[in-house]
Amino acid sequence: MRKKIVAGNWKMNLNLEDGKNLVAGILAGNPALTESKQVVIAPPFIHLLQTGVQIENQQYISLGAQNCHFEASGAFTGEVSAAMLQSAGVQYVIIGHSERREYFNETDSQLAQKTDLALHNGLKVIFCCGEPLDIRDADTQNDYVAAQIKAGLFHLDATSLKDIVIAYEPIWAIGTGRTATAAQAQEMHAHIRQIVAAQYGNDVANDMSILYGGSCKPANAAELMACPDVDGGLIGGASLKAEEFLGIIDAMI
Ligand code: G3H
Repeated sequence: MRKKIVAGNWKMNLNLEDGKNLVAGILAGNPALTESKQVVIAPPFIHLLQTGVQIENQQYISLGAQNCHFEASGAFTGEVSAAMLQSAGVQYVIIGHSERREYFNETDSQLAQKTDLALHNGLKVIFCCGEPLDIRDADTQNDYVAAQIKAGLFHLDATSLKDIVIAYEPIWAIGTGRTATAAQAQEMHAHIRQIVAAQYGNDVANDMSILYGGSCKPANAAELMACPDVDGGLIGGASLKAEEFLGIIDAMI
């Protein structure tokens, strides 16, 4: 079933106490969530257990991780596996964020491996795609994003797609205050859905949640989320303040 999802990606922000207070603030806001309107909170690895305890009775708030390693286990100092995440109560993992692609040189094939391991361990995947500014300026963003999705996901069978959420995040809009217009977001989200439909059929594509990310705030969330192919948001900066995050959740239809 296609869901509206607002996912908060804290990135490398907040110490343990601040994280605890943020989650408490979100819960105190008592957001109106349902089976079809859900929230994911993705704190840094080291906060996962604490956040998990705080949300353990929340039916529609899930725990997410920001990354996992592309190998199942082994001598990878400092890394965290998909199996470890699953064992810690994590339900979602963000894979292919542009910051991971850019600063950690993550490749398409590594992202495909990560996706496999995440699914194999019972995690749902928020798979990120999105173009840099020069690609947008050259108006070749549709091909660029299509290539990312094909490389990361098209080795999967149709059944696995029910556990995939795609997040479209134009890199030029991340943390810049420059949001894609609702029309730009809708155009790309419709394109992504069409790419998925061409490979897996309309039912799979119509069931998939496609999130927008990039300077989404309470002030612009309602317009973005009113687009027919925008099913929620992957929120960075505005997920760090309970009031702003709650405002975006409220903007979900
Ligand atoms: O994962 C979240 C995105 O990168 C968006 O970040 O809301 O701070 O622009 P932002």
